[in-house]
Amino acid sequence: ETMPLSLTINGVKQSVRIEPRVTLLDLLRERLHLTGTKKGCDHGQCGACTVHVDGQRVNSCLTLALTTEGRNVTTIEGLADGDNLHPMQEAFLEHDGFQCGYCTPGQIMSAVCCIREGHANTPDEVREYMSGNICRCGAYSNIVDAIMDVKQ
Ligand code: FES
Repeated sequence: ETMPLSLTINGVKQSVRIEPRVTLLDLLRERLHLTGTKKGCDHGQCGACTVHVDGQRVNSCLTLALTTEGRNVTTIEGLADGDNLHPMQEAFLEHDGFQCGYCTPGQIMSAVCCIREGHANTPDEVREYMSGNICRCGAYSNIVDAIMDVKQ
């Protein structure tokens, strides 16, 4: 059985009917074709699926879509301002904050919250905050550099 869900994603109102078991991650990727948000582990271990719900970071694989009724969701597709990349996106480019790129959308969404929530005062603080975002290529030091650069 499906249930109605209305929410705002990247500034656009969406109304859908979904089964209660559907995660926010699957709603984004499979129903709305917003495939910038990645599925790594699908159980809260890797951070590839990180998005913002009302400005707070969440693992979208652990979030039932129905719990986002009436909320504002931001994904990596909604971060840039038209043709102007978000400063964090620019910093990841400048500092080579990725290799294969699969973890990058989640890294960037977490990184934005890292600064927003005041956890980017030292590289150690950044590493602690970002510890839920796994990078199999090991781009960690460049990711920390990018975040510290935006912080300044
Ligand atoms: Fe959500 Fe890995 S896919 S944490």
